[in-house]
Amino acid sequence: MIHEKIISRRSIRKYAQKPVPKETLVRCIEAARLSPSGANRQPLKYVVVNEEDLLTKVFQATRWAGYLPEWGPSADEAPQAYVAILLDTNISKSPGHDAGIAAMSISMVAFDEGLGSCMLGSIDRPKLRELLKVPDHLEILFLVAIGYAAEQPTTDEVKEESIRYWLDEDSCLHVPKRSAEEILRWNTYE
Ligand SMILES: Cc1cc2nc3c(=O)[nH]c(=O)nc-3n(C[C@H](O)[C@H](O)[C@H](O)COP(=O)(O)O)c2cc1C
Repeated sequence: MIHEKIISRRSIRKYAQKPVPKETLVRCIEAARLSPSGANRQPLKYVVVNEEDLLTKVFQATRWAGYLPEWGPSADEAPQAYVAILLDTNISKSPGHDAGIAAMSISMVAFDEGLGSCMLGSIDRPKLRELLKVPDHLEILFLVAIGYAAEQPTTDEVKEESIRYWLDEDSCLHVPKRSAEEILRWNTYE
């Protein structure tokens, strides 16, 4: 069921060192390609990274788990693929909401095929432009890291107003989510 999949997906930051099947990456991009797009402009382009040397270099241009700076992935827990989501500024000067939608499509197809992912906005864009040979008219929006999960984060309630994810004594990541009572009103916002 899609509801079960969506609510159980968590961002994965530690990955098994096992290659991501190319067919899965192709299906991820197919899902992004056919996702909703404002005015159907489809201004996004994608670079999929799955070569070993490049994976190592791209990993060095990423930043992980800002709330837990000591904890992110080590080199032997690094993602085994990335999708760089790019804006073609010859088509549109702004991505609108398209990039987030595409990223979620990619993440959910990966998850449905047994893989974890993490959207990465905290990235060294000049470095990535050089590494991925991205031409000037394409803006690097963010990355989606993909790989087989080597951790099992869990959701939690937001306690004492803190939305910071945290680690328990078994190094299991807890991700606080705001309650339905806090975020939802029916019909009118009162
Ligand atoms: C646009 C966007 C950018 C993100 N950038 C990063 C990032 O640079 N590094 C990171 O470790 N996580 C990043 N995340 C993951 C969020 O921290 C994560 O989605 C949030 O903590 C909620 O956890 P969940 O995805 O497991 O529900 C990003 C998520 C989004 C949506």
